Amino acid sequence: MLCLGIETSCDETALALVRDGVCVGAELASQADVHALFGGVVPEIASREHYRFCATLYDSLMARSGLTLSDVDVVAVTRGPGLLGALLVGVAFGKGLALGGNKPLVGVNHLHAHLLAAALEQEIRWPSLGLLVSGGHTHIYRMEGPTRLTLLGRTLDDAAGEACDKFAKMLNLPYPGGALLDALARRGTADPALFPRPYTKNDSLDFSFSGLKTSAATWLEKHPDVRKGAVAVAAAPTRDKAVAVAEQDLCNVCASYLTAVADTLRLKLELALKQEKEPVHGLVVAGGVAANTQVRAAMKALTEAQGLALHLPSLDLCTDNAVMIAHMGWLLAKEGLHHELDLSAIPRGQFIPEDEVFTDFKFRGQSAKSSCTTA
Ligand code: KG4
Ligand code: ZN
Repeated sequence: MLCLGIETSCDETALALVRDGVCVGAELASQADVHALFGGVVPEIASREHYRFCATLYDSLMARSGLTLSDVDVVAVTRGPGLLGALLVGVAFGKGLALGGNKPLVGVNHLHAHLLAAALEQEIRWPSLGLLVSGGHTHIYRMEGPTRLTLLGRTLDDAAGEACDKFAKMLNLPYPGGALLDALARRGTADPALFPRPYTKNDSLDFSFSGLKTSAATWLEKHPDVRKGAVAVAAAPTRDKAVAVAEQDLCNVCASYLTAVADTLRLKLELALKQEKEPVHGLVVAGGVAANTQVRAAMKALTEAQGLALHLPSLDLCTDNAVMIAHMGWLLAKEGLHHELDLSAIPRGQFIPEDEVFTDFKFRGQSAKSSCTTA
């Protein structure tokens, strides 16, 4: 089964083809440089950029893969969560292809697609614990299987990626700051006592990163020279040059901050493992922050200590991409699940319904839900 995936939830326009769980082509246009001029994603610009790129990327994907719409068996599109205008561009594009090509349409939950991305590269050991750490979400799940996810905990304020981006902004580093913080931290030495592990002295599986942000802001007020060093980094023409000109104090504070983020994630996962009544066999880590060097090391250490399989996607599959959307679409479609053309786009903060319908291509429209209790 060949599934075309479309991703336009935030600031990456991406299309990909997955055949029976294997990627056969992918295109991605990042808008990061455009939004960097404004210090963060500007929703209207994001929508316009998706509108500008969708058709071009589709043509290029098909030409490079040597395929046409008639070869596609199912069209999958991110239906949320994300920026509403941005989602609508992808959803409309997907509906057009589904209608024009008479193909089934599958609306994909972006968060579930992230969590299943590792399955493109390795066999997941079920049940697993799932950690989704992205720019907008920090969620812990119990994952019984590919379409059976239960949300156990979530952030009460900032997401882990947001906490990284905001710290980078405090330092005057360019948006999006997470990957640059990571690069700087790799040259630094962390002081594990410099920043707190916020909201970890409790029995909750929820997160709160606002205390970490405040503590970093207070520290920066007392150490203004670090900010001046960061200005030189931000002015460097390339990321490599930026890392080369970085001063040691800046690299050290980045390392300390990311240590606090990674350690907070580890502590909550340890608590989740303690609280689970039925054991899990693996840990799935997903989302942009799963690309972080310290987070990856912390998760490796945790799973080794607990005797769990670690399912970490390769770096390209951690951040937003359409391969994971096509893959998730294929997983749903092979269970006979799809959506009708009235599929809605769901912005961030709103509940995403499990409103797929079941089709065995004889009986269209029977209800058969996947069982995910997630936002
Ligand atoms: O999953 P993603 O690409 O988009 C969302 O769905 O949000 O995640 C983006 C987030 C941003 O906050 C970005 O700064 C962060 O992931 N990020 C990183 C790294 N790469 C991306 N944070 C820390 N270290 C990285 N290497
Ligand atoms: Zn994402």
